[in-house]
Amino acid sequence: MKVAILTGGGDCPGLNAVIRAVVRRGESHGFELVGVRNGWRGLIDGHHFRLTRDAVSGILPLGGTILGTSRTNPFKREGGVEAVFRTIDRAGIDAVVAIGGEDTLGVARKLFAEKGLRVVGVPKTIDNDLSGTDYTFGFDTAVTIATEAIDRLHSTAEAHSRVIVCEVMGRHAGHIALHSGIAGGADVILVPERPIDLEQVASWVKARQARGKNFSIVVVAEGAQVERGHDETVTADLDEFGHVRLGGIGAFLAKEIERRTRIEARVTVLGHIQRGGTPTARDRVLATRYGVFAADLVRDGRWGSMAALHGDEIVAVSLDTATKELHLVDPKLYEIAEVFFG
Ligand code: F6P
Repeated sequence: MKVAILTGGGDCPGLNAVIRAVVRRGESHGFELVGVRNGWRGLIDGHHFRLTRDAVSGILPLGGTILGTSRTNPFKREGGVEAVFRTIDRAGIDAVVAIGGEDTLGVARKLFAEKGLRVVGVPKTIDNDLSGTDYTFGFDTAVTIATEAIDRLHSTAEAHSRVIVCEVMGRHAGHIALHSGIAGGADVILVPERPIDLEQVASWVKARQARGKNFSIVVVAEGAQVERGHDETVTADLDEFGHVRLGGIGAFLAKEIERRTRIEARVTVLGHIQRGGTPTARDRVLATRYGVFAADLVRDGRWGSMAALHGDEIVAVSLDTATKELHLVDPKLYEIAEVFFG
């Protein structure tokens, strides 16, 4: 059986660990493995190469993806879907392992449901916003990086008696902000799931000042909004999956906090630092478990399914379940964070 592996969407720490695991387990099942370049674009353009045990040796701790990635949607390209199947026929590919988030796996789901593609999925994203799984790989690394940044921001904020707003990624879910904010002891955490109340934020900062704490750390998710549906901090450009580019809420907040509290405020935008570099041990283990499981799903012909983490078990869920709706933050966890606000 010839099995192709592709990585799509934003890169994320642990992609190489999954690729290595699929290849190692796949070879033990007697598969021939092929790497597709740059996500679905590689299947449109016919760019793929042989992946062997030797080719994946040493990649476990590496960030990025040896396959490359892109945000290509074959359904949005003229003749894109036909081109995908042309490549699959020409290369004699029997099955595809798609490693991606809601977009890449959404394409996998559609190709499976509408065109009969033999595909299985692996849940990747630093945002942790995929349904059907408790955690995606890459999330733990992003949270670890953001937490370390928040720790560092504390000492400089305190030294200068400033408010520092730390803007983190996460798209329309607040998981990175909530987890890194709790772990880093943030004084305010703002997430897309809850509209921002600027007066309330200012009063938390002022309450700290009244207690002699002349500095505050505010963690804000890039997708958080002052009023739901009225965000000016996005660009108008949409990618092939219809996503706006988020960013800018941190700078806006810092200005507003300074204006309302008269305390000097600064912003730090962590950006792609959260996605780069080596995965944490936890992500390496999770990615490896997902990769081995995905190769087993192919062996068992479980097309249209995705490896998922439920509790501490890796299980199969349908791509349909995984891509139906966004996995948002648990209100109970936000309530725990709130105990420490102000
Ligand atoms: O989905 C992962 C993610 O890093 C989001 O958190 C962020 O909004 C987006 O990708 C950034 O995309 P790009 O790398 O295209 O700027």
